[in-house]
Amino acid sequence: MKIDIEVLKKLEKSIDTSDPEKGEVPIKILGYGEISLVFELLNNPEQIAYKRIPIFDNETQVERHIWAYNEYNRLLKEDVGLNLPEYDVAWFKDEEGKIQFYCVQEKLPSESVGHKVIHQLSDQDIKSLILLVMREMKKVWDYSKNHNNIDLGLDGQISNFAIIGFDPNNPKVDLDTKLMYFDTSTPMFRVNGNEAMEAVLFLKSAPSFLRWLLKALFLEETVGRYYDWRKVTIDLVANFFKEQKPELIPELINLVNKFFEEEAIDFDIEPLTLEEVKKYYKSDSSMWVIFQSVRRFDRFLKTKVFKKKYDFYLPGKIER
Ligand SMILES: Nc1ncnc2c1ncn2[C@@H]1O[C@H](COP(=O)(O)OP(=O)(O)O)[C@@H](O)[C@H]1O
Ligand SMILES: [Mg+2]
Repeated sequence: MKIDIEVLKKLEKSIDTSDPEKGEVPIKILGYGEISLVFELLNNPEQIAYKRIPIFDNETQVERHIWAYNEYNRLLKEDVGLNLPEYDVAWFKDEEGKIQFYCVQEKLPSESVGHKVIHQLSDQDIKSLILLVMREMKKVWDYSKNHNNIDLGLDGQISNFAIIGFDPNNPKVDLDTKLMYFDTSTPMFRVNGNEAMEAVLFLKSAPSFLRWLLKALFLEETVGRYYDWRKVTIDLVANFFKEQKPELIPELINLVNKFFEEEAIDFDIEPLTLEEVKKYYKSDSSMWVIFQSVRRFDRFLKTKVFKKKYDFYLPGKIER
């Protein structure tokens, strides 16, 4: 992949994180998460997705993160056998000496990403898709089961998978369809119980006045959730509330329970219940709403009161 550092430097000079598409370097937002802003450079022939991750204070952190990122990608691709897009990183110090860091990936067609696809597929095909996702996840948890010193985590939300060879004019999924997993910018694995990524970096997007509290209360829980296959599956299913397809949830719960019983019997996973999926969704979405408002307040303090830069992109109100 041909990464043009000079363009990225120019981009950082003029980026306005409250409206990133309006800077001097034209970009298109492909997606965003709690810490990352994912975009492509317009007027650029390369099919590259850049994930801007503004969380690093020093080079030691960057080096450790690059190691963890490469190793996580390698483990998932070569040892576990997931399909991953081509990947790389790019980083530099900007004119103010601040570290600007990007995870770089081959760009996938936006229409082929899970949370878009499910709005094009029949209910039957959505069920096939979820079964395929469960099978990809099984490879990950099989690996951890068979390796004492390594634990792998995964964020199994549907928005982290893309369908290979998806044809928007003829949207379908069957059991031979192949999936690509691409949410690797937050490496989640433990070597002999030690988190590969510096765990406090997970909290970098939180306002500094809250970080100590979040660390004390939630860090273990937030990070640990991605290592627990059952919790990751609850998250996957509960996401259909947010995607405005709640009517599918009972069937999806049956599907994953049948999967655990038949294809993953040795994992001994307790069946999911509709009640807990609902409860999880409620608490997760209210946490998110609170978190977003506190972050907006933090942005207000930083930019309007202290006249400083705010590093993160905050999405507008999201329908849930
Ligand atoms: N390689 C890619 N090509 C196209 N779109 C992408 C790519 N990577 C991410 N995206 C878009 O950005 C969104 C967030 O990216 P993701 O890697 O899942 O980061 P996060 O950790 O913030 O969830 C995805 O759901 C997808 O819509
Ligand atoms: Mg994601």
